[in-house]
Amino acid sequence: MRILLISSSYNGLCQRAHVELDGLGHDISITLALSPDDVRRAVALFQPDLIICPFLKEKIPEDVWSRHLCIIVHPGIKGDRGPSSLDWAIMNGEGEWGVTALAAVEEMDAGDIWATATFEMRPGSKASIYRREVTRAATRAIVETVERVESRSFVPEPLDYSQPDVRGQLRPVMKQVDRKIDWEVDKVETILRKVHAGDSAPGVLDTINGEEYYLFGIHEEGRLRGWQPGAIIAHRHGAICRAAIDGAVWITHLKKKNIEKSPFYKRLLGRQKQLDFKLPATMVLRDALGDIPESPIDPLYMEDGKTFKEIWYEEQNQVGYLHFDFHNGAMGTEQCRRLLDAYRLAVQRPCKVLVLMGGTDFWSNGVHLNIIEASDNPPNESWRNINAIDDVVREIITTENKLTISSVWGGAGAGGAMALLAADRVWVREGVIFNPHYKTMGLYGSEYWTYLLPKRVGPVKALELTETPLPLGMKKAKAIGYIDEILPDAFAEYMAQLRQKAEALAASPDYERLLDGKREHRQRDEKARPLSAYRAAELQHMKMNFAGKFYGGEVNYHEARYNFVHKIRPKETAAYLAKHMRLDMARFNELRQPLAY
Ligand code: COA
Repeated sequence: MRILLISSSYNGLCQRAHVELDGLGHDISITLALSPDDVRRAVALFQPDLIICPFLKEKIPEDVWSRHLCIIVHPGIKGDRGPSSLDWAIMNGEGEWGVTALAAVEEMDAGDIWATATFEMRPGSKASIYRREVTRAATRAIVETVERVESRSFVPEPLDYSQPDVRGQLRPVMKQVDRKIDWEVDKVETILRKVHAGDSAPGVLDTINGEEYYLFGIHEEGRLRGWQPGAIIAHRHGAICRAAIDGAVWITHLKKKNIEKSPFYKRLLGRQKQLDFKLPATMVLRDALGDIPESPIDPLYMEDGKTFKEIWYEEQNQVGYLHFDFHNGAMGTEQCRRLLDAYRLAVQRPCKVLVLMGGTDFWSNGVHLNIIEASDNPPNESWRNINAIDDVVREIITTENKLTISSVWGGAGAGGAMALLAADRVWVREGVIFNPHYKTMGLYGSEYWTYLLPKRVGPVKALELTETPLPLGMKKAKAIGYIDEILPDAFAEYMAQLRQKAEALAASPDYERLLDGKREHRQRDEKARPLSAYRAAELQHMKMNFAGKFYGGEVNYHEARYNFVHKIRPKETAAYLAKHMRLDMARFNELRQPLAY
């Protein structure tokens, strides 16, 4: 079928829908819902059999939904309606939640139901549940809907609140008053839920030292305590620990309330940099932290206690598992340095196989663009950051005493999608999406990608992947040799298979032969062209990008980074997504005239 995806942004779910439907042989084009006329134009040019909206905040124009079947993917159970579905589900402690694919009609989320899928809720932030459970359920519902539309015999179910399985209801937008933390009254469990429900957006508005900030990234603390609820009692690796009436919590990120956007403040601040985006909490509070003590943690943390930790390690049956769960997969300079220290310690452990686990939501998304943007000297910080990440990658590539595996449960983008190739084996969860390109950020890229990627997929595919910034699904990734194994999508099964396969590798009678083979291979490669030469050549390009020189003549890194960090919407849908724009430019130019639909 010809399917048009209409989305507010090309987010993870839209990328997954794109990859899945494309993989099923459908003809896909995408338009961002930047204006009603953009949507109308895309429909007129592409003439779709079906429209699917994986993530849509805007209304579809009536003249579109009344003439075409438009499926809205709503992150709620049957009967749930409104823009804060997941927020309420988390806040109300729902045990089960779901996704519903319904037809667009005049009333929001009230159309006929084409498919639903449910899942068990788990403690976690809204963004994390969206990326994992919602995306998985939505993909099922989308594929089922497409099959049902294709069958031409399926009759969708009208929304009927008298049906026993219609458990949802119309809910209002969740406001800051609903999210507000009362530190004198709320227990840890309530604070966790409130912050999770607003994370990654809009955050919970709170006051610290008389200033207003949005809170993000909450973790329970098991040991530290303080007398004054809400008071900051410790800090660690960018996060702050705050006392609660029955324990304490870590808050990893803050965003300053955006008063500076008012014309008055803009004039007052002049050209001064506005740090009104999410940053590590201690970076935002800076001097306000005073003499609050740091709470140190082992570089290779091996305990099980409740606390905030980005890097930790466990081992079992000759296999070591190194976790590095950096917020949003962004790896700043200091984080890379800590990871390098931890990696070196892990390599010294008496295990035969070392598994690089990455984080729960992302394996890695490369250098930390927010920290770079906030720094006094972004080109210098970019340089420090890329070198720090390169050091980690080099250490993995040159590990001689162990077999290494990248175990990719969360997604990976840009440098992260290249860094994972440094391991000897790459095993990935079925539903993961890679974005193995730097171009949209105006970068040539480093992380030894010019060595690692062509080695796996060949030079032609490497160029194709990096030049056209499209997401890559795992079926295709395996077919082209980017990855070695696809593991199941469900967490328990994924972990069971990962452990079983890693232990089998460690216990393999071939182990010594494989290790010898790896060393010889590396020596051969080093002789052909040293790693340092790849790095130097990549960094030469990066230096130019950091100096503001465009890569490929299109995108300026500093502008692209600014837009990314400040979440500036693009002015138009990128041509590599909007296939309809490529179909008939002449017709497109005709249609640029005001539309008489
Ligand atoms: N630095 C800082 N923050 C990053 C980041 C990075 N490298 N990569 C992702 N993030 C943040 C996003 O700002 C977003 O933050 P928020 O939702 O908490 O506000 C969050 O991570 C999720 O990213 P999002 O873009 O919404 O996820 P996605 O699944 O739609 O897209 C990517 C994934 C990887 C395509 C996209 O995040 C991306 O392009 N990241 C930048 C990669 C990059 O250029 N890295 C630098 C070069 S090595």
